[in-house]
Amino acid sequence: MPLYRSHVLVCGGTGCTSGGSDRIYDAFLKEIEAQNLKDEVQVIRTGCFGLCAEGPIVIVYPEGAFYSKVADSDVKEIVEEHLLKGRIVKRLLYKESIEEGQIKSLNEVKFYKKQMRIALRNCGVINPENIEEYIAYDGYKALAKVLTEMTPEQVVDWVKRSGLRGRGGGGFPTGLKWEFAAKAPGDVKYVVCNADEGDPGAYMDRSILEGDPHSVIEAMAIAGYAIGSKQGYVYVRAEYPLAVKRLEIAIEQARQYGLLGKNILGTNFEFDIEIRLGAGAFVCGEETALMTSIEGHRGEPRPRPPFPAVKGLWGKPTLLNNVETYANIPVIILKGPEWFASIGTEKSKGTKVFALVGKVNNTGLIEVPMGTTVREIVEDIGGGIPGGKKFKAVQTGGPSGGCIPASLMDTPIDFDSLTALGTMMGSGGMIVMDEDTCMVDIAKFFLEFTVDESCGKCPPCRIGTRRMLEILQKITSGNGTEEDLEKLEELAYSIKDSALCGLGQTAPNPVLSTLRYFRDEYEAHVKEKRCPAGACKALLRIVIDKELCKGCGICAKNCPANAITGQIKKPFEIDQSKCIKCGVCIEKCPFKAISKKA
Ligand SMILES: Cc1cc2nc3c(=O)[nH]c(=O)nc-3n(C[C@H](O)[C@H](O)[C@H](O)COP(=O)(O)O)c2cc1C
Ligand code: SF4
Ligand code: SF4
Ligand code: SF4
Ligand code: FES
Repeated sequence: MPLYRSHVLVCGGTGCTSGGSDRIYDAFLKEIEAQNLKDEVQVIRTGCFGLCAEGPIVIVYPEGAFYSKVADSDVKEIVEEHLLKGRIVKRLLYKESIEEGQIKSLNEVKFYKKQMRIALRNCGVINPENIEEYIAYDGYKALAKVLTEMTPEQVVDWVKRSGLRGRGGGGFPTGLKWEFAAKAPGDVKYVVCNADEGDPGAYMDRSILEGDPHSVIEAMAIAGYAIGSKQGYVYVRAEYPLAVKRLEIAIEQARQYGLLGKNILGTNFEFDIEIRLGAGAFVCGEETALMTSIEGHRGEPRPRPPFPAVKGLWGKPTLLNNVETYANIPVIILKGPEWFASIGTEKSKGTKVFALVGKVNNTGLIEVPMGTTVREIVEDIGGGIPGGKKFKAVQTGGPSGGCIPASLMDTPIDFDSLTALGTMMGSGGMIVMDEDTCMVDIAKFFLEFTVDESCGKCPPCRIGTRRMLEILQKITSGNGTEEDLEKLEELAYSIKDSALCGLGQTAPNPVLSTLRYFRDEYEAHVKEKRCPAGACKALLRIVIDKELCKGCGICAKNCPANAITGQIKKPFEIDQSKCIKCGVCIEKCPFKAISKKA
């Protein structure tokens, strides 16, 4: 391999790519060629660095200069100043990465300091389209180890001892699942990777596939060896074109290197992987629906038992795990189960990747040891709430989960403490909410999602969730009654008890959780016809303060609904029957005379 004096890492994750990082990458190649630096500087397109809010991101080594919000027009300056003259372009440095003129190592930057990257270890580090870079970072060493030094039973035993639990939502012990699949009788078995990732706002699995696809391929091959399977399938949604492309490239490269196919690494172990594209239905992430979809049928869940480990794809024993679950496997094999089990809490080992989104300064992808508190995530890693607003809650587990209120911010995040709070780990979506978020509206948002995504097979989910949504619509429009709250709760419990699959069984969770922690908000909507957060438009009034109004008429000129009238130099008035609550007048009034009244 040639030696380079500098490496330019351009983020090629979806966030930065949508911000133009492809153009930035091309501009670097062009400029480096023009400056005759081709033999000295290598440009690498990596996976997501995590700090997507600051993208597009470029990191230049050996200095570790972390350039944020880079535009293609900045590339010439970075090449001429930094790469030619050795002068770092300070104006482009991420503000947190420089202290007293000195560049801090990334591990010292607040966003990264409390993180521990196991599943994301190679994301933002290697070029995911080059198998040699994965191999240079110990890639496929774990596969070689299991094939040459371990029996399948030992592999299963190590996964069990590591304490790894499924990262796809349920937290089922992975080793136990591997043992069931290994012990299930049958010559034909399958290994499936669930990359459907349908939770709104979640993109952990996409980033792993985009940034480090070989880690999943290697883990699936290890699983194949452990349970006695020759064939794997990755079920990934078609809306993830970059992840699919990188996975295709990686599978092809692994075949060329003899790491997939027959006689892997000179042994008589055989394993190959095919990709199956999903059409983006949330229910297809549910394991039985996913397998039905791979079989070529409409993705509808089927009753369990039998579980996939016994009767899965085409009726054969099938091991089904999530992308992030697999990404942990090669490290467990290389560093040992005790190492992995030493990270995290007593019953939740290792780390968890979260997509941190919503009302938080540093949105992005983070990986933290289990047991990290909500406070550490929101305040330290996330950098707090924008605009000095108050933190209200975080939603975990997406449409199947619930919220953790500010009063429980010191809760350590692990499978069991989240369940005890009435929410769940889920696959890793974490939505931060501030004082302006209406919790009734949030519950309605998630229920709208589940109503849309219900496959319709069973009445409790198909009809029951719709009835719940209608009640929430009634409440947020100011027509709810106290009986509606009772009905809502009653319906929620009966749907949980009677729906066929996890989608319906968990769909009421956001409602139950907000009722548990924010009942006063529901009551304010119902009894006082008031939305305390000022978010439900129907319950809001936009008013002009007569004392502050100077009668300039600017608001009236800008009102799209012609709802404001008045005479110049006299206080203006809003006709509430015409006002559509767009908020334009609040922004335009130079004297801050207009405000929302909850
Ligand atoms: C409605 C619904 C959607 C789901 N979506 C996903 C998903 O997108 N990705 C995923 O890995 N698991 C999803 N699951 C969980 C899977 O059914 C399954 O438990 C998981 O993939 C098992 O892998 P693990 O043990 O590694 O977590 C979903 C479950 C339900 C009920
Ligand atoms: S619970 Fe909902 S998604 Fe699941 S089978 Fe029933 S209707 Fe379909
Ligand atoms: S813009 Fe403000 S000050 Fe001017 S008329 Fe409207 S409310 Fe009054
Ligand atoms: S909120 Fe919008 S519609 Fe209502 S008065 Fe102001 S500008 Fe007009
Ligand atoms: S996509 Fe570039 S930092 Fe996440």
